[in-house]
Amino acid sequence: MTYNTKTYSTRKLYEAYSELRKFRNSFVSPLHERFIFPYICGTYFGYRKVDVLRVVALAKSISPNPRYLDVGCGYGDFLEKIREFIPDAIGIEKDAGIFYEFNRVKPDYIHIKDVSLDLNEKYDVIFVGWMDPGVDFRKAVASKTDVIVTTLDQGISLGAEFEEFGFERIAWWRTPSWMDVNHVIMNKYYTKMSKELYDYLFDLRGAHNLWYVYTKNIEHTDKIRDALTHNQKKDLTEYDFEQVMDECGYGYFENQQLSKNSEIKSNLVSLWRIEFG
Ligand SMILES: C[S@@+](CC[C@H](N)C(=O)[O-])C[C@H]1O[C@@H](n2cnc3c(N)ncnc32)[C@H](O)[C@@H]1O
Repeated sequence: MTYNTKTYSTRKLYEAYSELRKFRNSFVSPLHERFIFPYICGTYFGYRKVDVLRVVALAKSISPNPRYLDVGCGYGDFLEKIREFIPDAIGIEKDAGIFYEFNRVKPDYIHIKDVSLDLNEKYDVIFVGWMDPGVDFRKAVASKTDVIVTTLDQGISLGAEFEEFGFERIAWWRTPSWMDVNHVIMNKYYTKMSKELYDYLFDLRGAHNLWYVYTKNIEHTDKIRDALTHNQKKDLTEYDFEQVMDECGYGYFENQQLSKNSEIKSNLVSLWRIEFG
């Protein structure tokens, strides 16, 4: 391996794969790896099947066969779930090396290109799951769709607001990010500490991933809100990794206190509850 000639991000990925190999020799549960190695085994945002169904429902409220694009999809973990319901959904990923450097098969529905330079077609819905800090492809995305669904981590990923491009946020909800779940499982299973300290830290957990739904076409607003209203129920056939979130205090509709320093009741938020506006 010519390790030293690799770019910084490729070297980081080599390190992550090497750590993953070690982790697989000593894990407590294989379901933990997506919350410890989010990019190569999962996503940066914690999601449940209900999130997939919501995004599918809103896309299908625009068109029965929606043109759906996931920008910056990485290995396509979330996209793969969406394709179960929208088989023609595609992804765009800039970095071909994430596949070819690591002998991972690139699915043909993931296209390697830079979305800022090469986005020529229109889509019914564009999904943007976590832009890295310092990366900003909002302008390209905003010009190629009327409906954007984006996830962002409060305080870590770029604040991916689209109002300045003529979009209105019409709905949003909150889930944990990979890091929120990571802290709890690392403390519980992979770090030696007293029960008192673990309980104290468990109590401090937060949920910092936000899902924003935007449109710039007022005719879509009611359709999307209706579709979301009818998709608030938890799906009974949930993904196996959802049990990790349940165990970490991130249950469906579970209340979270956003700041432990405050006694104010409005500080409580209900995870996954859809707010309109
Ligand atoms: C933080 S990762 C998020 C990956 C995935 N959406 C997730 O949540 O796990 C951001 C991804 O966007 C890709 N990316 C960054 N700039 C891009 C661009 N201009 N065009 C396409 N993809 C881009 C990166 O290579 C990376 O895979």
